[in-house]
Amino acid sequence: MNQIGIGVIAAGQMGQRHANVYRQLPEVQLRAVADLNPQAAHAAADPAGADVYSDWHDVLARDDVQAVSICLPDWDHRDAVIAAAKAGKYILLEKPLAIDVADADDMVAAVKRAGITLLVGHTLHFDPRYAMPLADYRRGAIGDIIHVFARRNNPITSAEKFEGNTTVLQFLGIHDIEYVLSMLDEPVVRVTAESHQVLAADLGIDDAVFTLVKFASGAVASFEHAWTLPVQTYRALDARLDAVGTQGMLRIDCAPATSMTISQQEVETHDTWYGPTLDEDYVGAIFHEVKHFVDCVRTGKEPAVKLSHAYEAVRVVDAAQQSAASGRPVSLAASK
Ligand SMILES: NC(=O)c1ccc[n+]([C@@H]2O[C@H](COP(=O)([O-])OP(=O)(O)OC[C@H]3O[C@@H](n4cnc5c(N)ncnc54)[C@H](O)[C@@H]3O)[C@@H](O)[C@H]2O)c1
Repeated sequence: MNQIGIGVIAAGQMGQRHANVYRQLPEVQLRAVADLNPQAAHAAADPAGADVYSDWHDVLARDDVQAVSICLPDWDHRDAVIAAAKAGKYILLEKPLAIDVADADDMVAAVKRAGITLLVGHTLHFDPRYAMPLADYRRGAIGDIIHVFARRNNPITSAEKFEGNTTVLQFLGIHDIEYVLSMLDEPVVRVTAESHQVLAADLGIDDAVFTLVKFASGAVASFEHAWTLPVQTYRALDARLDAVGTQGMLRIDCAPATSMTISQQEVETHDTWYGPTLDEDYVGAIFHEVKHFVDCVRTGKEPAVKLSHAYEAVRVVDAAQQSAASGRPVSLAASK
């Protein structure tokens, strides 16, 4: 097969990472990058000799671009996904699918109508710390899930970066919620949440949300999501998961500082899983996410992230936010 032409829509932190991986894969050629910020677009495009645009429609208009990464901010995924689907492009969309259930409905309908592949970049499926226990669960290693706990905490800088336009559940919580949904693979019946606003109150959003999810089988999951860690917390992420089943348990502990260089002047903690480089090659979860997308485009294989789980995660986040705001549990009807 000829090289697959790639476009990257939005070249911020994630778009730059995707572009770096595409440059490394011989089966694709990065041909076009769009960002409102020309500096960001050039940083992603120039090393690959790709063309630069400010308007993402120009990327979709190119016949020599068959697949796109969409790395726009959380609140801006809808229109680009629908337009890309209409243009017949394969899509790797950074999580979340959407921050609004109505948007998610429109996006799923557009993707189904177009018959193209949409992989939502739920990175935990490409992080061995999460992917390996999930595979064990799926081959029956711990029996049926009774209860799950998951945590994902960041410093407030994550909230500040997005200026209150996304929430701790939409940005962080969606990772664990989608993961647990894809593990249990059964309907959610009820969602209850409590939240607190202190550090992010000026942004009009919550600092912390604690969510309880009841599944159709009776299994329960509890989630702790917050962006209140001290800003000095290195690697900026405290994530854990315990899933207890009838025959055993899964335990995931993503301790933030497991590899460090400590000099007289500073402590440097290394990224060993997300986007590290080895011998000048990008490796890690984002590499595998993008490579998996390219494999899906090349071979037609099913994406590791089911669109139905990415969609349900949006509904659960929405229900949790409604519950936290109203102080009442929210029942979820089976989705269409
Ligand atoms: N999978 C993960 O682990 C992970 C981690 C971080 C972020 N994300 C997701 O990736 C997405 C992007 O996040 P980010 O951290 O890269 O954000 P970012 O703010 O670093 O980058 C966003 C970029 O989009 C550009 N942009 C905004 N509107 C645009 C428009 N209309 N047209 C063209 N360019 C536009 C901005 O100029 C900016 O360069 C978000 O949905 C976020 O939730 C995923």
